[in-house]
Amino acid sequence: MGTPHGLQLVLLGPPGAGKGTQAALLIEKIAIPHISTGDILRGEAQQGTPLGLEARALMDKGQLVPDELILRIVAERLKAPDCADGFLLDGFPRSRPQARGLEAIVESSDHRFVAACLDVPGDVVVRRLSGRRTCRECGAMYQVEFSPPKVEGICDRCDGELYQRDDDHEEVIQARLRIYREETQPLLEFYGKRDQLVTVDGTGAADEVAERLRQVLGVE
Ligand code: AP5
Repeated sequence: MGTPHGLQLVLLGPPGAGKGTQAALLIEKIAIPHISTGDILRGEAQQGTPLGLEARALMDKGQLVPDELILRIVAERLKAPDCADGFLLDGFPRSRPQARGLEAIVESSDHRFVAACLDVPGDVVVRRLSGRRTCRECGAMYQVEFSPPKVEGICDRCDGELYQRDDDHEEVIQARLRIYREETQPLLEFYGKRDQLVTVDGTGAADEVAERLRQVLGVE
């Protein structure tokens, strides 16, 4: 199979499965926009918009932002011209209403739709998230144990300051995992029934996972 054109890709998996990491690696190979609902909400929160402030209160507790709100944001974003030839959604959908909303948006399209789940056990994601650090300036991601920066607290790429996300503390991580199991995991059945689901082993080095993901997607 050649490099897919017009791929509409959803990355599923628990918090810390590596969705953001794999999205960044994949878009180096295929020119589709990477849309992360978490990044959009954190951006709004940073700007102090009413939406951002409402979202931050929920995110800090590990809870989901209401479906109608997220669906409105995503529907608007997917209308942009850069999504005409496909897109990569990271962190969306996260519930059945969101999945049904997305289905209604893409049903008139003849692009290939794939939901790819990164399969990673709970103990591994807790370990990854507890050590995640992100650059305030360029958004580059590090992991203190597996992919540390050269100088502690400083981004290798741009010298920006590295910070720990407010929702990456043990108690909130556990709440996020619980909500994942209750709200998002049922989407594996939702997409499985539609023959749209592929599952990728998300353990091991990020490059190895990227290779597996490219293989199942047919990306060269
Ligand atoms: P969001 O930002 O989407 O967070 P998440 O889904 O919990 O996912 P993460 O970003 O924590 O993890 P990831 O899978 O992307 O892993 P990453 O690559 O970063 O959402 C945050 C919040 O926003 C939600 O809780 C909710 O409140 C709200 N929200 C967002 N979307 C919503 C929606 N649709 N509906 C309602 N609410 C919504 O990797 C994690 C760490 O591991 C990093 O340090 C990385 O360097 C490291 N790592 C990655 N891969 C590997 C590897 N193979 N080996 C070793 N380390 C690795």
